[in-house]
Amino acid sequence: MGSKFSKIGFVLAVAGSAVGLGNAWKFPTLVGQNGGSAFVLLYLVLTLGVAFVIFLAELSIGKLSEKDPVNGYKTLAPTNKKTWSMAGFTMLGAILIVSFYSLVIGWVVKYMYFSATGNLSQTLEESEKQFTNLLLNDFLSQFICFSLIFLIVFYVVSKGVKNGIERLNVWMMPTLFILLILMLFYALSHTNGFSEALQFLFVPDFSKISGTSILEALALAFFSLSLGVGTIITYSASLPDKTNFITSTLNIILINILIGLMMGLIVFTFIFEFGANPNQAGPGLIFISLTTLFAKLGIVGYILGATFFLSLIFAGITSAISMIEPFAFYLINTFKMSRKNALILIGLIVYILGNLCILSTLSITEFKILGMSFFDVLDYISGKIIMPLGGILAAIFVGFVMKKKALEILFEPYMSGVFFKVWYFFLRFIAPLAVIIIVINAFK
Ligand code: TRP
Repeated sequence: MGSKFSKIGFVLAVAGSAVGLGNAWKFPTLVGQNGGSAFVLLYLVLTLGVAFVIFLAELSIGKLSEKDPVNGYKTLAPTNKKTWSMAGFTMLGAILIVSFYSLVIGWVVKYMYFSATGNLSQTLEESEKQFTNLLLNDFLSQFICFSLIFLIVFYVVSKGVKNGIERLNVWMMPTLFILLILMLFYALSHTNGFSEALQFLFVPDFSKISGTSILEALALAFFSLSLGVGTIITYSASLPDKTNFITSTLNIILINILIGLMMGLIVFTFIFEFGANPNQAGPGLIFISLTTLFAKLGIVGYILGATFFLSLIFAGITSAISMIEPFAFYLINTFKMSRKNALILIGLIVYILGNLCILSTLSITEFKILGMSFFDVLDYISGKIIMPLGGILAAIFVGFVMKKKALEILFEPYMSGVFFKVWYFFLRFIAPLAVIIIVINAFK
């Protein structure tokens, strides 16, 4: 990415990457499917004990090498440079992610349009029909909305991440936050649904937890912090000196968790209030639950809805950008490609994969691989295989291969010695082991 971010620019770019549909769409959906509170607790523990630890490892690789993931590993490995550089190719996972992720942003575009035109349903059944209809039958809308997002995302990346997008973030993140608070207040006035939602999210019931749900929680913790596929390495390559990256990271994690929880409270309040089953709604959960909320509020709701979906679109776009940048940065560095050519190549792949995702859920062209739609296959491979692998490799590399001295120098200004020791221990022994055990346990 060449030059460095401004101090606040780095924080905004990483926060922009972290906060996205992972919080607004994946979090409530997975919480619903995995029985609520115990899953939330697991997610919090794994975020702090594993994801945070690995986040700092990826940040170190980026900051100390100032390169893309592949060349970063290569530069920092004292021996076996070629072999270690392979670890950087986990960044291709981000290309799989951006293909289905842009489609989900496309759905949000469609919902913004529904809100703006007053076309939302008042009952849960009706909204569920509306959502299923979009996925099963409406190729044209999905194609147009996906293509639109695709063009915007690639256009912004072509301008370089640091121009423009930073400025956008300054406005969009607070807007999203304020809208969430307003919606939370409205949810609060539905006392029954709200108290059920509170209970669902915060009173743990461990009987609902299985090996697979632990892996889901881990994958979500990685996904929502953009870990394991080179994003954090790439952004940290432009981390300005003298930024207190520990405080920044903790702030980003806090915002991320907060947005997820607020979103969850809002969504589940309306799910319970209107008597739906949180675990049945699937990927449409947020669309189905929120649209009924907006529809009930009449004209105010339509305005609120359109603004809310718009801010989600922006949150999604800043995340999507961060998935493309690592591979683009690599192609530019390694093959001396122009940014434009690199993006044409990546764009071609993403556009094809994205369209296959659309086709894979339509009722007429539906195709499944091992019982999953192509959409779910991309989600599965990236989230449950590549991201954990990328995380383990980063942990082992920074914990065992890189020189400790360089890390101490990097961390010293912002972290007390004790904290460093704890982090280093977690990095070497707890985090990689936890990831390995969780993955094996889920697959056996
Ligand atoms: N963290 C983002 C979200 O929660 C998604 C995201 C952005 C991401 N960059 C990523 C996920 C890289 C995995 C890898 O929506």
